[in-house]
Amino acid sequence: MVDVNPSLDDGLPIDGPVHSASAWAGLRDRVVEGTPSLRALLNNDPDRGKQLGIKCVDILVDLSRQHLTDEVLGHLQDLARQRRVVETLGRVLAGDTVNGSENQAASHGALRDRTGKPSGSDIEAARRTFDRMTDLATAIRDGKATGATGHRITALVHLGIGGSHLGPALAVDALKHHTHPDVTIRFSSAIDTDDLDEALSGLDPQSTLVVVCSKSFTTIETLKALDAALDWLTADLGDVAIDHVIAVTTAVRQAQDRGIQDDHILKVPVSVGGRFSIGSAVGLSVMVAIGPQAFSEMLAGMSAVDAQSATQPVEENAAILLALVDVWNRCHLGRGSMAVVPYAHRLRLFVSWLQQLSMESLGKGVCQNGDDPGTPTGPVVWGATGTDAQHAFFQLLHQGTDVVPVDFIGLLQMSTSRVDDAGVRTSANLLLTNLVAHADALAFGRNAEEVRSDGVDEALVAHRTFPGDRPSTTVLLPELTPTTLGQLISLYENRTVAFAALLGINPFDQWGVELGKRTARELADESMPEHGLLRRVRSLEDE
Ligand code: F6P
Repeated sequence: MVDVNPSLDDGLPIDGPVHSASAWAGLRDRVVEGTPSLRALLNNDPDRGKQLGIKCVDILVDLSRQHLTDEVLGHLQDLARQRRVVETLGRVLAGDTVNGSENQAASHGALRDRTGKPSGSDIEAARRTFDRMTDLATAIRDGKATGATGHRITALVHLGIGGSHLGPALAVDALKHHTHPDVTIRFSSAIDTDDLDEALSGLDPQSTLVVVCSKSFTTIETLKALDAALDWLTADLGDVAIDHVIAVTTAVRQAQDRGIQDDHILKVPVSVGGRFSIGSAVGLSVMVAIGPQAFSEMLAGMSAVDAQSATQPVEENAAILLALVDVWNRCHLGRGSMAVVPYAHRLRLFVSWLQQLSMESLGKGVCQNGDDPGTPTGPVVWGATGTDAQHAFFQLLHQGTDVVPVDFIGLLQMSTSRVDDAGVRTSANLLLTNLVAHADALAFGRNAEEVRSDGVDEALVAHRTFPGDRPSTTVLLPELTPTTLGQLISLYENRTVAFAALLGINPFDQWGVELGKRTARELADESMPEHGLLRRVRSLEDE
């Protein structure tokens, strides 16, 4: 039964609490009855991997190690239909107004759409900006861009934080094997001067461009870094230092007020959320690193996943199925956190990128319509690269008292210039073997009988027993290229938006970070009395 509220039959997203949906009650009943163990589910159905493996363009998503029975899956899919999640993704990715609390569109999908269909002044302007980015990136890569003193530009230092940092930093690091050998790209995001000092170290101001990336142009960390970078440039270049600064921002006026020339300002539409912004001018450093062609391939990968997410029926829609599993784990099975474990060094920054995407989007306590969501919202997201994580927190995953669903991300082939090298092939196979081994060990565990059958001393049986029944999802990419990275980013973005749509919350605002920012601004005001805690600490130093 689909209990669509007739007043909402206009296709608009459902922005109130989810628990009135009939499928929600069905899921609650399944929790009370309990589901078979993962061991039983996997052993009893040899085709489970095939049935719960979903292809998303070039990515394979395997949900077979999740607590999904046919019934649970049926209720979850009903829930997505009742909450009109495909339609919502369609609206989001077409650039409709979906951000209620800021009365704004979300235009990241329209911006990276490769069909040329989306239109509107923001999109047209973004296309022109894209052309300017292409010209600049090409000139730098061809060695034709020169600085104020005529030296060739060979380095770009990207200043920005949060959404103005994590996506570009991830892409430049992930696609290292595709980057220009003679152009250095560095990032600095912290207010901590050590961070900028490290980013600037060894660079020549005469050959360096500073890209200051801030949508609002009010973020204190970024503006302080800009001041410090300008000091560094000025010490060498004097008055023409500002010629070495490019601003990527929505707030053109604020950038102009700091003396940045109009032809050095690349505009980001206000409707592109920071954490969804890699396909906008925020991605300039990525384009310089990998080149306009590869950057377009990344956008094409994103756009291909978007097209599927916005149109595929629920049962074939990878982004929505992933979100449904998240809702099942978080809201019904009470799993408060989720670990993300890429078995690829080149995806080491994926975890921090995803932390912002997921927790800033889903860490909400109110529905779009102002109601209480009535269920836990986004989980804590944490993780690290595979083999390191195995020797750090996997003990807790396997035998700790909390059950933490894991996303394992793997590459079938390593992205390196040495693909033909036997050592590289061995390494790729070992990584995959480790991934699958841990996913299986988490799911199957090893019970006391099995431990005894290994001849383990009775006193150690409890210590050597693995409870198992611990869920995980496996996400496999054929290899890491601009296209597949784009697909992966888009898949996780759309999964995040789908989770929000299921719960009726707004994934595009972030009011929660405002209070801390305001308080820090007030405390930084020198006319204000010093904070009591800081006073106390300083008085301890004096003792
Ligand atoms: O952390 C809050 C936040 O507003 C993020 O949403 C954003 O990505 C980041 O700060 C940086 O903001 P801006 O690009 O405006 O400097």
